[in-house]
Amino acid sequence: MLKKIYIKNAKAKLFETDTIFNSLYPIDIQALAKRHWTPIDVAKTAADFLAIEPNTKILDIGSGVGKFCLTAAFFHPKNLFFGIEQRKKLVDIAKQTQLKLGLENVCFIEGNVMEINFSEYHHFYFYNSFFENIAGTEKIDDEVSYSLQKFNSYNIFLYKQLQKKPVGTRLVTFHSLENEVPSNFMLVEAKMDNLLKFWIKTI
Ligand SMILES: C[S@@+](CC[C@H](N)C(=O)[O-])C[C@H]1O[C@@H](n2cnc3c(N)ncnc32)[C@H](O)[C@@H]1O
Repeated sequence: MLKKIYIKNAKAKLFETDTIFNSLYPIDIQALAKRHWTPIDVAKTAADFLAIEPNTKILDIGSGVGKFCLTAAFFHPKNLFFGIEQRKKLVDIAKQTQLKLGLENVCFIEGNVMEINFSEYHHFYFYNSFFENIAGTEKIDDEVSYSLQKFNSYNIFLYKQLQKKPVGTRLVTFHSLENEVPSNFMLVEAKMDNLLKFWIKTI
């Protein structure tokens, strides 16, 4: 019993600051954190909004090295978090970090968001994942090709999937241009100078 409490407290310490959490990742991945991975407090706030009841399935669209999913899963052990990510290297690192943290309510999927069946998930998190397709933006690496055509088709795909979701579906966007948010999602709250937005589907 005491051992269990000790392990839980030691794990909780890892989520206290971004510096501590990022140190779980390899050095090159840590260097990308400021620009590309969700800060711990944002992940926690977003997860609090999305995990409204137990057993809901929450998808991070473009999950990178899993920082949102892992934080959300730690603070909401009764919910299931999924991440879809196109870069195999990042999925592998997310899975290794999941093992280090001993979290069982997370699943990282390697692939393109266009292969995802949105009917399998209840609520969604989106950190402006398609923005890297815009010329002049900071890239994670040169492993994928970028184009405006991809930016548009991914946004249209996501918009259509969200439009099909039932009333009550929740969405959190971070740094989004909002091309992917259908008009029947109502903005219920905004934080951090409108960078972090909370939406609920109303119609
Ligand atoms: C800004 S990062 C966010 C990572 C993660 N959600 C987080 O909050 O820490 C966006 C990620 O989306 C991924 N991505 C971009 N387009 C994608 C697509 N079409 N399918 C799957 N992943 C994609 C990128 O490879 C990148 O890792």
